[in-house]
Amino acid sequence: MESIALLSPCEIGRFRFSHRIVLAPLTRSRSYGNLPQSHAILYYSQRATEGGLLIAEATGVPSDAQGMSLIPHTPGIWTKEQVEAWKPVVDAVHAKGGIFFCQIWHAGRVSDMEKEPISSTDKPVEKNEDDHVDCPIPRCLAVEEIPNVVNHFRVAAEMLWMLVLTGLKSMVPMVSFLSNS
Ligand SMILES: Cc1cc2nc3c(=O)[nH]c(=O)nc-3n(C[C@H](O)[C@H](O)[C@H](O)COP(=O)(O)O)c2cc1C
Repeated sequence: MESIALLSPCEIGRFRFSHRIVLAPLTRSRSYGNLPQSHAILYYSQRATEGGLLIAEATGVPSDAQGMSLIPHTPGIWTKEQVEAWKPVVDAVHAKGGIFFCQIWHAGRVSDMEKEPISSTDKPVEKNEDDHVDCPIPRCLAVEEIPNVVNHFRVAAEMLWMLVLTGLKSMVPMVSFLSNS
């Protein structure tokens, strides 16, 4: 029988995947107070398979990094309470043999809209006709402020270590956020 590449196993680094179908990170905007809720247990475990990769929705590093108005109710990973709230979600995925990565992010130009968001640029997000929120002009980070933002990722990574998630993936926009500065 002809083998289907998508369903064949592969190995990347220390990870062995039984197939190549991946749950892409999908922001759900249901983590009220930046805490994963119990319905996330069902959501992620339903999508977990033995040896399959799931990437969790974008998860905030410490608090001023959240997309408050434009992307509300995203989970975070900077307090012990958040770690505790993630635990049953991770356990449920692991119970089904799933490999669970967490995507950590800083919402940059769309973070903390009430105040002045920080970014690698002072250009606001361009509005298109579907948008209902005006994005403020962000404050361009000074070079000496960058280590503080990097430190937010370190704090989140330490929290994830406590959680023993299987992997860690940082959000691509954050990478450009740093490299443009
Ligand atoms: C509702 C929604 C939420 C999303 N949330 C995230 C997210 O949290 N992190 C991310 O990197 N991409 C996010 N994406 C992008 C999806 O992961 C992306 O659409 C998916 O990988 C498919 O790629 P494509 O849109 O280029 O076909 C989101 C997309 C949608 C539609």
